[in-house]
Amino acid sequence: MITLISKDNYNFLINEKTGKWLAFLYKKEDEVIRNITNKRIKELFTNYEEFKEELKVVKNSEEVKNTKLNKMNYLVLHSSDACNMHCKYCYADDNLCDQESNLMDSKVMIQAINKFYKDEDFFVLFHGREPLTNYENIIKTLEHYKNNSKIHFILQTNGTLLDDEKISTLKRYNTIINVSVDGITDNNNIFRINGSKIDYTNRIKKLIEKYKFGPIMIIHKKNYKDLVKITDYFINNNICGASYNFLWPTKENKSLNKYVISCEDLFNTMKKVFDMSIKDNKFIFKERELYLLYGRILKRDIYNYMCNSAPCGAGRNCLSVYKDGQVYPCTMVNAQRDNYLGSLNDSIEEIMNRKVVLKERDIKKIKDCKMCPLRLYCKGGGCSGFIYNLTGDVNGKSLYCEYYYNIILYIMKKIYLMSEKKYFVNY
Ligand SMILES: C[S@@+](CC[C@H](N)C(=O)[O-])C[C@H]1O[C@@H](n2cnc3c(N)ncnc32)[C@H](O)[C@@H]1O
Ligand code: SF4
Ligand code: SF4
Repeated sequence: MITLISKDNYNFLINEKTGKWLAFLYKKEDEVIRNITNKRIKELFTNYEEFKEELKVVKNSEEVKNTKLNKMNYLVLHSSDACNMHCKYCYADDNLCDQESNLMDSKVMIQAINKFYKDEDFFVLFHGREPLTNYENIIKTLEHYKNNSKIHFILQTNGTLLDDEKISTLKRYNTIINVSVDGITDNNNIFRINGSKIDYTNRIKKLIEKYKFGPIMIIHKKNYKDLVKITDYFINNNICGASYNFLWPTKENKSLNKYVISCEDLFNTMKKVFDMSIKDNKFIFKERELYLLYGRILKRDIYNYMCNSAPCGAGRNCLSVYKDGQVYPCTMVNAQRDNYLGSLNDSIEEIMNRKVVLKERDIKKIKDCKMCPLRLYCKGGGCSGFIYNLTGDVNGKSLYCEYYYNIILYIMKKIYLMSEKKYFVNY
């Protein structure tokens, strides 16, 4: 089915099934016409003859098949249930974890890796609440696999327990370190600092400047106005990638809603970040959200990342192992009974085939998404886990729907303009 979206005289004819689209400029009113007929297109555009060959390409295109998410190759270890910070927005409380220091033994880590590793490239993420509260067991695990170059280790940390010695040890084991930080001022980081005495912002900035760690930021009312300045800071410090994730209120803490920025403000901010990220038609700063969307829109590389899809990679290419070896599809739903996949003593088949609620999120079952012409690029408006945890409905609508709709059209427009073609069709 072909859908026409006309906005500000930019016209997009989109094949909803395959994600192929044609863009051109033609002065007309804004409108969306789903399942548009050829007759109607000819009536609306007197220049039809000029683009009819391109339109044929869009009409006759084939779907891109998803194979990437079917291979289980990403393991998240809930290395520690303890944290030395008390970020105001932390979803980890949603998982009803006990607050006592509860560390995963390296034996469990090794048992989990051995179980799922298949002598092919395999990614292991030390996660948790704060994984560095369990540094010794992490190092024992890294030591165990030091001669295996196919297992790639990543550490997601608040950064406060890092020092030069630990960093040098982790680097010796080729561990990629991602640090969470919400910006470059204390005000940006107010929800992370949350009354603590740690000189958080300066400490993390020094680490980023010295070691070029990939920053993970949560976007909310206290940092979105500075996002251009923050992005500039990253680019000037030769950081070529970052993740700007959006704040999600949690079931326990719905009051976080007041710190969520409106879709309109988010759109106006992220489009500036998009413009800064591209120079001479090349991405010089790969903010993950925008870069993924850009890939999906331009190359129809639709299934290239486990998150931000519905169904997502949780329980398919990604598994999360909780403290004592309980397996869940994703860290977002650790310790939830209706998402329990089994234990490390169960067979891989049992674990992968068990039906759990998170795996049921499906773009075709999300009420508004199934009628949305941009669903192939958006895939449901963000993390399935956050949406399920907030709404209690695995096919619930995203808080950020309107943002995704507008940024996708904006990126399409920018791709069209960069192509310098009169009629542009994506790959
Ligand atoms: C739960 S933490 C665990 C790892 C480590 N302690 C850290 O802070 O990076 C993982 C990530 O989730 C993010 N996060 C926590 N609560 C969130 C929320 N309500 N909405 C969006 N992201 C959130 C944090 O900012 C952090 O980047
Ligand atoms: S540092 Fe990470 S785990 Fe700890 S409270 Fe903050 S977001 Fe949660
Ligand atoms: S979240 Fe909104 S923009 Fe995304 S597919 Fe669903 S309806 Fe469309």
